[in-house]
Amino acid sequence: MNHHLIAPSILSANFLDLRKDVEMLDNSEADWIHLDIMDGVFVPNISFGFPVINSLQYITDKPLDVHLMIVQPEKFVLEVARVGAYVMNVHYEACVHLHRVIEEIKKAGMKAAVTLNPHTPIALLEDILHELDMVLLMSVNPGFGGQHFIDHSIKKVSALKEMIVKKNLSTLIEVDGGINLETGKRLINAGADVLVAGNFVFSSENPIETIHRLKSL
Ligand code: DX5
Ligand code: ZN
Repeated sequence: MNHHLIAPSILSANFLDLRKDVEMLDNSEADWIHLDIMDGVFVPNISFGFPVINSLQYITDKPLDVHLMIVQPEKFVLEVARVGAYVMNVHYEACVHLHRVIEEIKKAGMKAAVTLNPHTPIALLEDILHELDMVLLMSVNPGFGGQHFIDHSIKKVSALKEMIVKKNLSTLIEVDGGINLETGKRLINAGADVLVAGNFVFSSENPIETIHRLKSL
């Protein structure tokens, strides 16, 4: 068995009964809780924001993995830290001064991660990888839960893993979008460390068991 982490995304949770779903995650083998913040500009959808994350930090012990699908994420580093994020993920495509943002995230006491859209080559990370705690590879186009897994992501994970090993780094690889038992297994074999799963967990009859299965891959 691998030592990969599972980060369920609450994007597919029941927002009318969020406390119940978060308590379920707390009682599961989930390692982190993945929070998808969308601004309707960087992605064609709007999800939830700081007041929701702020409330969640008091009802869960799980580390919060905050994925910002927003333009100018550098504006919100301190706010993301304040609402209790463990990891702050910013999109490569949204940051003009990526190195500066990464420094600020770490200075604010969070783990720093860069997210790549499906079309963004990992080669662009060559000169920043050593500064990162994690890279989040999107295996769908960001904006919605429940989309189809983009198969090319497997090759991207292997290539990124190779780059990390070659540089003798311990950067984690997280993958997000369309993950189920089949795609999850292939991603882990390719070198993924953290699997995000939204729809697959929350649309299943027994989410705790589903998380257990993902964890046991
Ligand atoms: C997509 C989000 C994902 C999404 C994953 O924009 O970043 O985290 O919730 O959901 P599934 O597992 O449903 O593809
Ligand atoms: Zn996400």
